[in-house]
Amino acid sequence: MENIKALILSGGKGTRLRPLTHTMAKQLVPVANKPILGYVFEHIKEAGIRDVGVIVAPETQAEVKAYLGHGEKWDVKITYILQKQPLGLAHAVKTAQKFLKDSPFVMYLGDNLLGKGIKEALDKFRKTAYDALLFLKKVPNPGAFGVAVLNGKGRIKKLIEKPKNPPSNLALVGVYLFSPRIHEAIGRIQPSWRGELEITDAIQELIHMGARVEGEVLDCWWLDTGKKDDFLAANTTVLDDYVKRQVDGFVDEKSEVSGRVHVDATARVINSVIRGPVIIGPGVEIVDSFIGPYTSIGEGTRITNSVIEHSVILSQVIVEGVPRLEDSILGREAKIIKNQTRHKALRLMVGDQSLVEV
Ligand code: TTP
Repeated sequence: MENIKALILSGGKGTRLRPLTHTMAKQLVPVANKPILGYVFEHIKEAGIRDVGVIVAPETQAEVKAYLGHGEKWDVKITYILQKQPLGLAHAVKTAQKFLKDSPFVMYLGDNLLGKGIKEALDKFRKTAYDALLFLKKVPNPGAFGVAVLNGKGRIKKLIEKPKNPPSNLALVGVYLFSPRIHEAIGRIQPSWRGELEITDAIQELIHMGARVEGEVLDCWWLDTGKKDDFLAANTTVLDDYVKRQVDGFVDEKSEVSGRVHVDATARVINSVIRGPVIIGPGVEIVDSFIGPYTSIGEGTRITNSVIEHSVILSQVIVEGVPRLEDSILGREAKIIKNQTRHKALRLMVGDQSLVEV
């Protein structure tokens, strides 16, 4: 089979992860201190793909390009493709047609995280004459996803978008392998009620055209980082899976660092307790504090006299004198500071669409 290309979708609006995504592309939000796109590109590289198209949106293309560059970090060649409006996943494929030409390709949604790579599935796809191989995952709430009905031998009979009475528990994961026949199928479909060209409609059309559409059921975790709780769950899972104990930074003799904790060489821990899994980024300072399990702390953040657990703290954040912070996400340059006056009022400066539980 001809060389397989990759199409990474890094456009879209990211409305469900606001306010973080007011100022940052959803695909660059860090999980365990690494942008989600970083994990996606590792899988692409590991699968031996060299030619990668990246769909970008006008609002976020600059920062996506700043992070990915020409692809040198992963030894791939990147072609950026501007999708002026997020008119659907099939619309993104249509927009990328000049780049994809007649090549088979893997389409990977840039905000999805998989517990293992895509090499095996790709090898299988290369050896067969399938027109599509779709990654599927058994989920407890199939009604929230696109759902696939199989014929018992792995062949897909039907796809249904967010069914009220799900006929199976196999959800479509955000990774798809396609032969060039998908372009013909996309050419035949109309926008859905929400005005988008849906990839599920295009795949259904492929099935009508008599094409061979197969499913690959994942036996590892899969995370869609779409919402706050999903995002915290993603951070927890990735910390569990990837963090190894590596304490490179300065830890004074009054501190205690236990379990799988990664402390960057330029971070400092003073008179504090850290219990892993935890990742502490470059230039971070932790003073007189307790950092509990499943916490990621981004570059340049300073935490003093506080207790934090199961949280994602992005870069350049200040947390001072906060007695207990849990299940929280703090965006870049956020400040949470205990009011030292006797007057016990909350004094807030909260950005658009933020959530504060007091
Ligand atoms: P979604 O999460 O379905 O869409 P979204 O990014 O607009 O998010 P929200 O619902 O929170 O507003 O998209 C899945 C992925 O595909 C995501 O990484 C964005 C990308 N995408 C595109 O690149 N182009 C598109 O037209 C669409 C709809 C999504």
